[in-house]
Amino acid sequence: MFDPNVIKKDFPQLTRLINGKPIVYLDSTATSLKPRQVIDKENEYYTKYTANVFRGIYTTSEEATAEYEKSRELTAAFIGAVSADEIVFTRNTSESINLVAYSYILNSFNPGDRVVTTIMEHHSNFVPWQQLGKRRNISVDIWYTDEKGTLDLSALEKLVTPKTRLVALTAASNVLGTITPVTQIVKMVKKINPKCLVLIDAAQAAPHMPVDVGAWGADFVAFSSHKMLGPTGIGVLWARPELLEEMTPFNYGGDMISEVHVDKTVFKKPPHKFEAGTPHIAGVIGFGAAVQYLSALGMDNIRIHEKELTKYAITKLEAVSGLSFMGPKDPLVRGGVFACTMKEAHPHDIAQLLNEDNIFIRAGNHCAMPLHEHYGVSSTARASCYIYTTREDIDAFVAGLLKVQKTFS
Ligand SMILES: Cc1ncc(COP(=O)(O)O)c(C=O)c1O
Repeated sequence: MFDPNVIKKDFPQLTRLINGKPIVYLDSTATSLKPRQVIDKENEYYTKYTANVFRGIYTTSEEATAEYEKSRELTAAFIGAVSADEIVFTRNTSESINLVAYSYILNSFNPGDRVVTTIMEHHSNFVPWQQLGKRRNISVDIWYTDEKGTLDLSALEKLVTPKTRLVALTAASNVLGTITPVTQIVKMVKKINPKCLVLIDAAQAAPHMPVDVGAWGADFVAFSSHKMLGPTGIGVLWARPELLEEMTPFNYGGDMISEVHVDKTVFKKPPHKFEAGTPHIAGVIGFGAAVQYLSALGMDNIRIHEKELTKYAITKLEAVSGLSFMGPKDPLVRGGVFACTMKEAHPHDIAQLLNEDNIFIRAGNHCAMPLHEHYGVSSTARASCYIYTTREDIDAFVAGLLKVQKTFS
């Protein structure tokens, strides 16, 4: 049985009292809390087999290498990849997307080519295309969300042209909560232009719902460990094997080569040719434990929990007069993230007042400034849920909002 109150017990930070009061953590979209199992696994590397990977022929180095590669296998299985060789470890989603931009796009796109992205992207999946576009004279076409915060799929017919080389879109918005129908979109893109590549930003999908890269049919998928119970400093890029072959390394250095001579270098096969230098070994190993933890809970169960919680939160938030939150109102097409505005108070004031009661939310534009501009708001107060979030946490948030209203009216 999926019970967030039982799950909470695995998270040491949730036992902490600040000023004698417990904490209500509602900022998992920014980063998730870490369970004891992940912390212990990361520590295991530091206490039992600290050594560099791929280099030593002694026991602890072999143990570290085996654990590091086991995380790659676990990650591959978690997202339905055919082989662990399709998994490149990076620092985060941002670096995974930049890896595609620098190692693939920069080398193969030509002036006049086009990229399509959406207005609801995190800056990580927006700025690389905008900046590369400027450098290489590539046009970036924006797919706008409607007043409900969803994408009109019929717009793709006009947006994707024979010149479009890439569609880069998020699987779930970190502000609207909107979940995009990835499989359907990829099918439509490939039908319009079979040569067009599709990159999926799964930073808010991989932690919250089942991801199957095979079923999605995309070409690149990026996500971050730290949003799905894992350590910070670890990201994943999955790509189709032939694209990884084609891509040239972005970082040069130790461990990504098989031969170096004075006049030439032979790189290792993917994924190792993209992992130059000593990686964040403990982080990757800890991430493996996070993937195991999520798999044991079941991603389907996690999605069910979040759908129920979202339904509950929507009802509660809609009852607060003067409050509005962005994104669709149907829990079936959205996740548990609520970016709110209130007539009486600025989002920063809301976050600050809630902080006095140890209710932790985020205020600002959440690295989605174009989206906020599109809807004519400069910032929002965002509460977001995860596996350890309960109805009581939502109640605390709503009670906090009512307190803010009272203070400011
Ligand atoms: C949808 C989305 N994409 C990308 C990112 C960037 O992730 P990272 O900071 O781990 O690179 C975030 C982070 O909030 C996100 O929500």
